[in-house]
Amino acid sequence: MSISIPAGLTELLQGFTVEVLRSQPGDLLEFALQYFGRLKEEAAAAKAAAAEKEASGRKAGTPAPGHDRGSQPPRRAPPDARGDVEAEKDEVLETPVINRFTRRASVCAEAYNPDEEEDDAESRIIHPKTDDQRNRLQEACKDILLFKNLDPEQMSQVLDAMFEKLVEGGEHVIDQGDDGDNFYVIDRGTYDIYVKCDGVGRCVGTYDNRGSFGELALMYNTPRAATIIATSPGAIWGLDRVTFRRIIVKNNAKKRRMYENFIESLPFLKSLEVSERLKVVDVIGTKVYKDGEQIIAQGDLADSFFIVESGEVRIIMTRKGKQDVEENGAVEIARCSRGQYFGELALVTNKPRAASAFALGTVKCLVMDVQAFERLLGPCMEILKRNIANYEEQLVALFGTNMDIADPSA
Ligand code: CMP
Ligand code: CMP
Repeated sequence: MSISIPAGLTELLQGFTVEVLRSQPGDLLEFALQYFGRLKEEAAAAKAAAAEKEASGRKAGTPAPGHDRGSQPPRRAPPDARGDVEAEKDEVLETPVINRFTRRASVCAEAYNPDEEEDDAESRIIHPKTDDQRNRLQEACKDILLFKNLDPEQMSQVLDAMFEKLVEGGEHVIDQGDDGDNFYVIDRGTYDIYVKCDGVGRCVGTYDNRGSFGELALMYNTPRAATIIATSPGAIWGLDRVTFRRIIVKNNAKKRRMYENFIESLPFLKSLEVSERLKVVDVIGTKVYKDGEQIIAQGDLADSFFIVESGEVRIIMTRKGKQDVEENGAVEIARCSRGQYFGELALVTNKPRAASAFALGTVKCLVMDVQAFERLLGPCMEILKRNIANYEEQLVALFGTNMDIADPSA
């Protein structure tokens, strides 16, 4: 009996073997998932190339040579131009479903290979803007963590490509399970985040006139992980999938190289699996503070969490409500240096900041927004809470009271 070898099988396995030998991956199965997922994606993109050319009518800026791809591997087309969205869905094992602090996000087969996307001029998208729009856009983007590590040229390409979208109260900006088309930065308006758990949608958080959402589906080629509903009229800035992947995802590969070992070494993240730690790296932004600069103000509402990469941070508490100067009863209660974190307490307890934080010398911090903190650090909550108990003991020793910093039910 003769067994026929399917056409292409030999080349497929040879190609895979070469990549394995070249990359020496630690987790062969994960590597195989990503490798074959990527091949499938490239095949899908090749099919969609014609549609993508049509979409190029919208593109301006550096002209056409760009569109002649020559021998480059095919690039992913935007979802509306992709021929086989269904085929792409098959690549995804599970949608990450997240409860606030309690459940671990499922780890998906991430088709994550930013190096696949060459930085060429052809895919630049420019949406012309009025001066007012550009000013508002710059203001909205200045604290977006995913943009923090971009160089000026990358940032300017991102700003060029962004487009304004007005939304009405009640509008679903994103529906969980859909394919990802754009990443969004909030210009104004309030938005609820719903995540379906066992079929039931639950509001897990809100955005209040600032922040961004919609990065996960674009970063990991997964379906949308949450539903975002506008709760007021508002405006958001969209960044298309192709530009997002070309610039942000590629930049994340650099970030992974820079911070993977550091994040790996942090004891308070030890409950996270390797892939979860990489997701932490993907969402953090770096911020630099000058000597004496205030990083956190006691009494403020909290929206981020900090890990010190270099320098020292002084934590100062005053017993008389919101006062940030060291006079008037302010006491230095702690110092944080490389590898230590701060700013978690208010996020865990949903209370205002319990203390202020100031840079001592030049300080560089890795910063994570509250949504990512809640989504990713659930498994570390035991360790974080144990440390909060230490804060209380320390405050009792210092002030004779625990200052009511933590709600015991939190
Ligand atoms: P994405 O999955 O592309 O689309 C929905 C977005 O909601 C998601 O990206 C995140 O940006 C945002 N989001 C905020 N909080 C959560 C959460 N707890 N789980 C999943 N997504 C969240
Ligand atoms: P948060 O309340 O968000 O902002 C101030 C931060 O100071 C707080 O989180 C903790 O991370 C940090 N901190 C360090 N030591 C203490 C302490 N003894 N009590 C309260 N906060 C502390």
